Amino acid sequence: MSFSPEYCQVRERDLATLSNYLSIVTRHIEIDWTIDWTNKVFGGSASLTLEATEEGESVKEVVLDSSFLDIKDVQIDGKKVQWKLDERIEAMGEALHVTLPKALNKGDHVTITIGYSTTTQCTAVGWLEPNQTKSGKYPYLFSQCQAIHARSLLPCQDTSSVKATYNAKVRSGMGLEVLLSGLRKGVKDLGEGVREFVYEQTNALPSYLIAVAAGELVYRPFDKLDGRDWTTGVWTEPGLIEAAAWEFREDTARFVATAEDLTSAYKFGQYNVLLLPESFPYGGMENPVTTYVTPTLIAGDRSQVDVVAHEISHSWFGNGISSQSSSHFWLNEGFTTYTERLIIGKTHGEPARQLSFIIGRQGLIGDLKRFEPRFQRLVSEYKEHEDPDDGYGQCAYEKGANLLLHLERTLGGLDVFLPYIKDYVKTFEGYSINTNQWRDHLFDYFGKQEGGAEYVRRLGKVDWDAWLHGAGEDLCVDLQYDDTLAKACYELAAKWDKARDSSDFSAFSSKDLENFSATQKVVFLDKLETYETLPHKAVEALDETYGFGKTGSAEIRLRFYEIALKSGPKYAEDAAVWVINKGRMKYCRPVFRLLNEQTPELAKKTFTDHASFYHPIARKMIAKDLGVKVDL
Ligand code: BES
Ligand code: ZN
Repeated sequence: MSFSPEYCQVRERDLATLSNYLSIVTRHIEIDWTIDWTNKVFGGSASLTLEATEEGESVKEVVLDSSFLDIKDVQIDGKKVQWKLDERIEAMGEALHVTLPKALNKGDHVTITIGYSTTTQCTAVGWLEPNQTKSGKYPYLFSQCQAIHARSLLPCQDTSSVKATYNAKVRSGMGLEVLLSGLRKGVKDLGEGVREFVYEQTNALPSYLIAVAAGELVYRPFDKLDGRDWTTGVWTEPGLIEAAAWEFREDTARFVATAEDLTSAYKFGQYNVLLLPESFPYGGMENPVTTYVTPTLIAGDRSQVDVVAHEISHSWFGNGISSQSSSHFWLNEGFTTYTERLIIGKTHGEPARQLSFIIGRQGLIGDLKRFEPRFQRLVSEYKEHEDPDDGYGQCAYEKGANLLLHLERTLGGLDVFLPYIKDYVKTFEGYSINTNQWRDHLFDYFGKQEGGAEYVRRLGKVDWDAWLHGAGEDLCVDLQYDDTLAKACYELAAKWDKARDSSDFSAFSSKDLENFSATQKVVFLDKLETYETLPHKAVEALDETYGFGKTGSAEIRLRFYEIALKSGPKYAEDAAVWVINKGRMKYCRPVFRLLNEQTPELAKKTFTDHASFYHPIARKMIAKDLGVKVDL
């Protein structure tokens, strides 16, 4: 089999775009924006250079995704052309039709310039008031475009099937820094505190990787590694820079180097981390050049750096090799999670890698329970025009990473599997692929190795249908993990389970956790959660003994509230106070859902009172979870 460019470009239709990307594709984007801090909008233009790809038929119009944009005009070669916006289709937005003055044949290019501005309904950007920042002095903004929010920032073909390079010129007042997901090429002082930032991204990328953040930001470079030609560092608000630098400086460059050794050369020039304010809705987002992360990673003990290992791994899986649609999202997240754990294994040893799989499995089981069968499948089944945010869960991550672990073991371990990963990257880097192409290559690669017949026989015995399309509430193969590090956690959990009805918990003390890493505490609580609901007295004892109700570790605090809220409303008030500044959906959504079961009024009131704190994506998801409407 040959993995020619023609083969690599075979595409399945993405149901979450209204664009006609199967006929004409974006190759390059030029962005020109002025940030309007007063009205909380971006104004300017986007120029898209597209290439017709349709065989035979000529292309007469370009259809772009747009959502809540205020379109002013559309020009080609300096001349205004006809355009129209369709009625809104919820989540998809309003299709923007641009009539081409001259029909295009395969291979022809056209550049379309759209003058527009975003609106206050933009779902991609979170705007913060000065009082929501550390210093309290300046406003702040940041975008989150994955999965399909780029269309609310600029008109584009908003599908991961299309990859384009981009340049941007962005102006901001008040002397504030502007970061984009490319390399900074210059800054021009335009007077009166206004500066223009010029950025370039020369790697072709899906639209969801366009990112912007602006505010009072400072940079701290990390030490350069010998023999590597990229640099690393951290951006954040001045009041957080010391803590941020301490948390990430030990691991960032080493992680990039390890990932590079596992895959191929790092192509983005710099790898920076931007530590965001509390309302950032994810743990991390792999925006190229600068990964965005939640401030909940600042644990003071570097226990959350695996998130950075994860985002670094996306440089190859997701950003390098992209998936064609949300149905094949596991190619991003499964490969990335698998690679993240390889990095953790190389850094902290194989038992640490296995422990990550143990925690992941628990998260998977929890999530599979919440989802209907079509989202329990690794290759998930979206309906036409469905919001990909609705199918987001651990399935792609954990079923994906476990499938790769299963293949690693089936084929004979890391010695044979790691060279395969390298070949996979080499074959598909730069393309957007689907699960079939991935599997074709897997069989082809192993078939070509020495002893290929045996590898292919083993691959043939994998229950592909169950792994890729099977539903259900756990993995289709009960993978076992080395429990060296988990044993002590399980034993302690069993002890609590045994003591559940007792009135005397003096056998437990803070010493129990003395030798536990932060991750082991998580495993302990995860295990405890799998038992029958604890009586209230035991929950209180758990809190009094270990101080879980006050810990600054969000991973531990979340799990404690999960246990506590299942047992009754006693901790509802505490949990409600905790979530009003937890913008990361991994924390706020489960707590809101549990509060809604115990104390629905408190859940709804807490949310509506603080709705403006949350990023528009989190706001939408919490509102759906609670069954309330919010207009802001
Ligand atoms: N790309 C994801 C975040 C994402 C996925 C945003 C889908 C929007 C839609 C990112 O790489 C991620 O997986 N973040 C995780 C990190 C964790 C698995 C280490 C998160 O936010 O929890
Ligand atoms: Zn990810």
